[in-house]
Amino acid sequence: MTTFILDGALHTASDQCPETTVLEYLRETLHRTGTKEGCASGDCGACTVVLAEETEGNKLRYRSINACITLLGTIHGKQLLTIENLACGGNLHICQQAMIDEHGSQCGFCTPGIVMSLFAHSKSGADQGRNALLHSLSGNLCRCTGYKPILSAGSLINMHSGGDHFDSLELEVLKELRAIQPFDSTEDADGREFKICTDIAEVATALERSPQARLVAGSTDYSLEITQGLAEPELLISVGRVKEMNTCGAVSGGLRIGAAATLNEATPLLLQHWPSLEELLLRFGSPQIRNQATIGGNVANASPVGDTPPVLLALGASVELRKGVATRTLPIREFFHSYKKTALESGEFIVSIFIPFNHNDATVRAYKVTKRFEDDISAVCMVAHWSKVNNRFADVRIAFGGMAEIPSRGKACESVLEGSSFDLQTIDKAALALSEDFSPIDDLRASATYRKRLASNLLRRAFLAETCSDSELRVTEYG
Ligand SMILES: Cc1cc2nc3c(=O)[nH]c(=O)nc-3n(C[C@H](O)[C@H](O)[C@H](O)COP(=O)(O)OP(=O)(O)OC[C@H]3O[C@@H](n4cnc5c(N)ncnc54)[C@H](O)[C@@H]3O)c2cc1C
Ligand code: FES
Ligand code: FES
Repeated sequence: MTTFILDGALHTASDQCPETTVLEYLRETLHRTGTKEGCASGDCGACTVVLAEETEGNKLRYRSINACITLLGTIHGKQLLTIENLACGGNLHICQQAMIDEHGSQCGFCTPGIVMSLFAHSKSGADQGRNALLHSLSGNLCRCTGYKPILSAGSLINMHSGGDHFDSLELEVLKELRAIQPFDSTEDADGREFKICTDIAEVATALERSPQARLVAGSTDYSLEITQGLAEPELLISVGRVKEMNTCGAVSGGLRIGAAATLNEATPLLLQHWPSLEELLLRFGSPQIRNQATIGGNVANASPVGDTPPVLLALGASVELRKGVATRTLPIREFFHSYKKTALESGEFIVSIFIPFNHNDATVRAYKVTKRFEDDISAVCMVAHWSKVNNRFADVRIAFGGMAEIPSRGKACESVLEGSSFDLQTIDKAALALSEDFSPIDDLRASATYRKRLASNLLRRAFLAETCSDSELRVTEYG
């Protein structure tokens, strides 16, 4: 049974199917309707709630999530905070009061979600400047108020130095969380099952026994099959709590990223070694999405517009796969076969991803181009990796998302660059060669012509960013 803390007390869920989402449970079973449903696909933020769970140092960590795409079973052992929990003793929470003071709400439909994002922001303990505020709100849409009053409310919250009533309850909540028994699995009346694994061998055995089962990590992709495709799975296996799969760290020669590590968990480590990935990683979905979405899920999903596959292709990563007791390691370039088809065999899953450290002071540049700056899927994403050796290009890997049916490297482009002189003429020839590599399609995100031009321009931009000063670059790009 799924047990979590709600309204300060232990709550055990009833009426749960494997595909029950947190939002469905709140609204349909508990008739707790403060949390709104807008898009049911993680895009609008109306359903934002906050999860609190234990972290190092006897502390609680608060994370905003989209209730509409979070499976109820995955919140077992956590505290669920909804808009109904914020006011205390007849007083509004600072995040609610600030929205009133700054006139941050009109129709009010988006407001509970926005307040919960502001609440998660106020509890993050990180940088509380304007940029952090913009990031915290990037997964919430408002269609009538306009964002200025909402940002003003956020600034008021940033200036508030006192704590709130949640601070004084932390130790009590931690005690209650620790008392929750581990969850193994739950079945509905038809025998359909949701299983949480904590051990990797358990995942391997369960998948080998039932290869038709669906593995879920953050469920940010899979839940759309439920909310939009009305999927009714027989067996879901959740891997978010498998230690071997959710830890990240440096190993000999590179980084090992557990397949079930979330974007927000893996990002600090990735940026420590490849700071130029910042724009791409921080523009992946929204805070709510990055708190749930995993790198393993992004790779396994094999979307042609996924953002981490081009990074992994350009960095020469490999994936560790497991089936039963057998493991194998595959270069990531051999993982993607055709549209949404991968090298994964039936019953096989991704354990981790290995990214080798760069040699020869390689340059890495990453660009993501979208219609909307925040929380949008790439029209084209490019990650370029090269070194400059004796004034020539070396170790060249140029990877793209959005240019083909799978995330791919531009082989013809790379062979023009590799070993050639390190100048703009070579880049121009390589940009022309991209037309041998890719025949992109027209779709709602971009036309094929635009994609082709974008790919060439991003390659030039990567080179110019390295060779020109900022002011020269501005003249070259816009002059
Ligand atoms: C609003 C929104 C915004 C988004 N923005 C972006 C974006 O900017 N960039 C981007 O690239 N993507 C984006 N996505 C897509 C999605 O968030 C990512 O693909 C994410 O990384 C998926 O990870 P997950 O853990 O949620 O996967 P899940 O939904 O749990 O799983 C996805 C698929 O992978 C399989 N799977 C998961 N883990 C494993 C494993 N270890 N081994 C084998 N199979 C596995 C599952 O069975 C499922 O088929 C967005 C999604 C939403 C809803
Ligand atoms: S309802 Fe829109 S993000 Fe959940
Ligand atoms: S107040 Fe109406 S959508 Fe935000």
